[in-house]
Amino acid sequence: MDDSDILFSTLSALGDFYPLSFHLNHQEIFHKFMTKESFTRPYNKNKIGYKRRGLSLFSHDGGDSGEIDLGSIREYNFLNNTNYSEMSFNKPTKHWNDFHEVSNHLEPIADSIGRSHFISFDEGGFFPPHRDLGKTYRLISFFDCSPLSLYFILDNKKIAFTPGYFYFANTRKSHSLFSFQKNSIILVLNIEISQKTTNFVLSNLLES
Ligand SMILES: [Fe+2]
Repeated sequence: MDDSDILFSTLSALGDFYPLSFHLNHQEIFHKFMTKESFTRPYNKNKIGYKRRGLSLFSHDGGDSGEIDLGSIREYNFLNNTNYSEMSFNKPTKHWNDFHEVSNHLEPIADSIGRSHFISFDEGGFFPPHRDLGKTYRLISFFDCSPLSLYFILDNKKIAFTPGYFYFANTRKSHSLFSFQKNSIILVLNIEISQKTTNFVLSNLLES
């Protein structure tokens, strides 16, 4: 166990899924999705049948091709004999600056953000059960969907969420997603674990 594991334990001791205090401007963000032709890249081009598309916010080189970052880094490393981590993808893309409704809130920890993206699910789109065991913590948010249309199962429990809020999610525990409608959108941010980024969560709890 290293320092980042101890800090992660501090965060996960507060819950496996809990909201932060800021609420995103949902309508502004939705308007941008509609005007940007946003989701042209598959999420994991080897698994098209999983019906997911992505929009890169932080990538390896600041590009938005999604070539490596929109997919499983663990699978990519295995197939290509590489050693990427979530923090290898810490260059903001042009979309990060476009979505200032999101980036403004994260400004205090902008230098600690790794692989991050929006994901859009088609009807029947899903992630099968898995764990994310990298040295980061996850903040996630939801758009244009509800717990009725997008099932998020974390540690065998169905999660109640409100669109537009940021949540800490303990994705080291087994989790899966399934969308019953098209255009369910989630935002996934990987944050490098440090005292600063831990304090960021602790000082921005909705329920404190
Ligand atoms: Fe995951």
